[in-house]
Amino acid sequence: MKRIDTLLGDITTVRADAIVNAANCTLLGGGGVDGAIHRAAGPQLLAECRTLNGCETGLAKITGGYRLPARYVIHTPGPIWRGGGHGERALLASCYRSCMALAAEYGCRSVAFPSISTGVYHFPLELAAPIAAAAVSACLSEEGNSVQHVTFVCFSQEVKDAYDAALADVRRL
Ligand code: APR
Repeated sequence: MKRIDTLLGDITTVRADAIVNAANCTLLGGGGVDGAIHRAAGPQLLAECRTLNGCETGLAKITGGYRLPARYVIHTPGPIWRGGGHGERALLASCYRSCMALAAEYGCRSVAFPSISTGVYHFPLELAAPIAAAAVSACLSEEGNSVQHVTFVCFSQEVKDAYDAALADVRRL
């Protein structure tokens, strides 16, 4: 039985096959969860990221996890919220789909996501959570997707409440 759940905590401690990094298009690190992942993974992560030549918003690239408990880090630049009229919703859904496709391509059975774009990129949490839940749920139900377990790792109770509500809605569909 495939599972999606939430966890209140720090994604750098999660033992999933892959953890997702809410990166920027340079893939050269930053603040927020990006900074936390790079700090925990160590300098080899940045060294590998330098070889990737960046990444477009909505797409994803994969690296090793180095000192992290996770085997892989999947880096995806989320959209910056600019009011909602610039395709932000579709780009956010694309981040989740791209990460799930890459995870499956690398045979990952478990993937952990942060709440992409809802920090520095100001994507409203109440809009982002349903988009994330719907996109991940759709990918999990696709035949041939090896991923069996997805966890939304929430850095605050407010974020966890939003993802729990979004998942409850998806399960009702
Ligand atoms: N574990 C899990 N979630 C975390 C952690 C952590 N250690 N640290 C922060 N978060 C949460 C934030 O609280 C927020 O809910 O990750 C979510 C995404 O916030 P940001 O990290 O600010 O990412 P985002 O909004 O996508 O902005 C990306 O910020 O750090 C820079 O380089 C990054 O330019 C990029 C931009």
